[in-house]
Amino acid sequence: MNMIYPGSFDPITNGHLDIIRRAATLADTLYIAVMVNHSKSPMFSIEERVELIQQVTDDIDNVIVITFEGLLVNVFQTYPIEAIVKGLRAISDFEYEFQMAQINREMQPRAETLFMMTNPEWGYLSSSLVREIHGLGGKIDQFAPPLVVSAMNRKLEEK
Ligand code: PNS
Repeated sequence: MNMIYPGSFDPITNGHLDIIRRAATLADTLYIAVMVNHSKSPMFSIEERVELIQQVTDDIDNVIVITFEGLLVNVFQTYPIEAIVKGLRAISDFEYEFQMAQINREMQPRAETLFMMTNPEWGYLSSSLVREIHGLGGKIDQFAPPLVVSAMNRKLEEK
């Protein structure tokens, strides 16, 4: 079965990577889909996010990194995907994810959503928190791959 793991990945964290590694063992092909969102002001451009994801998933053979704009379910028309994979961290994620899963399947009956429970080690992690901690001078080595931490340090220096 081919699966799609969508997100903003600004930046990719160890929590994302945990889900990606586990989902990749279950999927024939796992498409990691980076959402192009014009309304947010991201830390990394789409191209930078794609490159970082490609680099940190380099050792996983069945991963393909793609981008998408607009509705996630539209990607089902372009790629041979059977299911959406989402990571659930806490009950607080559940309500919104439940709603999205139902509305996505309403729009695209082929779009089943499969949930994976986040490893408790990363239960508190989010890209926005990692960005905030980094911006305020905190150490983030334990939250994201070294390559991502270096890229974030460079961004800060560029400012
Ligand atoms: O990493 P994020 O920002 O939590 O990922 C959210 C994402 C990209 C999975 C979600 O916002 C999404 O699927 N957006 C695409 C737009 C869409 O299809 N919206 C309708 C579903 S409710």
